[in-house]
Amino acid sequence: MADGRFYLTTPIYYVNADPHIGHAYTTIMADIVARHHRQLGEDVFFLTGTDEHGGKIATSAEREGRTPREHADLLSARFRDLGGVLDASYDFFIRTTDPEHEAEVQRMFQALHDSGDVYRGSYGGWYCSACEAFYGEGDLLEGRLCPIHRTPVEWVEEDNWFFDLPAYRDRLLAHYDANPDWVQPQARYNEARRMIELGLEELSVSRAQVEWGVPVPWDPEQTIYVWIDALLNYRTALGYARPGEDLVARYWPPDLQLMAKDILKFHAVIWPAMLMAAGLELPRKLMIHGYVLKGGEKMSKTTGNVVDPFPFIERYGIDALRYYLAREVRFGEDGTFTAEGFEGRYSQELANELGNLLNRVVSMVGRYRDGVVPADAGDEGELAAEVAAAVEAARGSFARLDISRAIEEVWRVVQRLNRLVEQRAPWTLAKDPARAGELDATLHALAEGLRIVAILLWPVIPGSAERVLAALGQDPAAVALERAAWGAGAPSARVAPSGPLFPRVEEAAA
Ligand code: ME8
Ligand code: MG
Repeated sequence: MADGRFYLTTPIYYVNADPHIGHAYTTIMADIVARHHRQLGEDVFFLTGTDEHGGKIATSAEREGRTPREHADLLSARFRDLGGVLDASYDFFIRTTDPEHEAEVQRMFQALHDSGDVYRGSYGGWYCSACEAFYGEGDLLEGRLCPIHRTPVEWVEEDNWFFDLPAYRDRLLAHYDANPDWVQPQARYNEARRMIELGLEELSVSRAQVEWGVPVPWDPEQTIYVWIDALLNYRTALGYARPGEDLVARYWPPDLQLMAKDILKFHAVIWPAMLMAAGLELPRKLMIHGYVLKGGEKMSKTTGNVVDPFPFIERYGIDALRYYLAREVRFGEDGTFTAEGFEGRYSQELANELGNLLNRVVSMVGRYRDGVVPADAGDEGELAAEVAAAVEAARGSFARLDISRAIEEVWRVVQRLNRLVEQRAPWTLAKDPARAGELDATLHALAEGLRIVAILLWPVIPGSAERVLAALGQDPAAVALERAAWGAGAPSARVAPSGPLFPRVEEAAA
């Protein structure tokens, strides 16, 4: 981050079932962060993709009567399509079935073996196939259920290859102590640190009974544990995302890795230990967000209580979903998705407060000033100062990854501008030639305030923000954050009226 580049990742999603709003949430939040860093002028690399190996995928393929590869191709494409529909500006979509990824996983796994960190052993434990992870008896819920999925676990016993995780305990703790904010929020940092303190177990890193995976190079009877295969994607992707370019040198280590708390241990305990073993630099920050809930429960492919994002996007547009999730679910905490909440924010905030404001400003500039935004006469200093303070506050919230707060700061400006319209009543000013200056100042202030709002909201609602800028006669590509300053817009802009920014739902449905 400090060196002007920013490498950001999402988890790679399992292709066992269709994507739902939970996956959309992580990808959208990552995209907001990625766009914010691009606005800051940084060299951003944003990675997402799919996790396609392992018994869980093989089983779901079989259930659908497909080969694992057919199944992975089909489902991976749905996750990739979702990225497009979400307007997610990722730079590369990795699939763990990419031959380049598989080859590099084998090479890195061989290196761990050569350095003595991977050795032979045998193991028995309670296995949750939805987590693709073993649990100790004490971790299970009553009735031997997985603590994450609340589904039955099974006893699995195998001769395997192991990774000496306990050997990294002290180095992990030292890393935690030296980097008190490397896992966000603090509660997750504490939770991960406690897992390390309480004692780590040797990690089984191969499977004799799983065929659908990357073969262990020196023991092809076994496949590499799907989580090892998956975690390495963050590194392998840089090796082939842009043929001929050395992205490893340019972007490693990740500046920010996003995920929900279900996979905290893999990323905050196992992953850094693997990187230490491989002699690689650790990611600079993990941001662990909460769950999007439905009816009080985590939305999950495994349990099936999911909301399909596509109908909402079709009906309301992608920006409405991005806005709702980013504002409703405080980043780092759980939040509930409800259709009523979604529709409420859509009509009140997006359609009324923002969309109508734009519409009024554009039509008043058209009606009273022949479509040209009046020049700044410098008499709105108080409002300009308020907006500048909101810009600072929003930037600070973005920097702390408090995205919902950043939106709230921007929304204060939206509401302030709405009040300005009511207070000044431009339709009255327009009737009195003696008050032409006041009308000019008001229309300029409204257009300038909206322009700044659009730049600040661009990471969250990129398409709509660009439409706001275009309607105001501004360059829709002028979204650099340094332009979110009073007076930084193009002067004498000619407004370009267009249809409503967020049409009423009845209209949208018609
Ligand atoms: O765990 N709320 O894949 P996965 C918020 N392949 N986020 C949610 C969510 C919800 N209800 N449901 C899913 C895996 N997510 C592994 C990851 S990474 C090397 C391998 C998001 O398909 C959230 O980011 O189960 C969560 O961590 C991830 O999807 C889990 O996706
Ligand atoms: Mg999962």
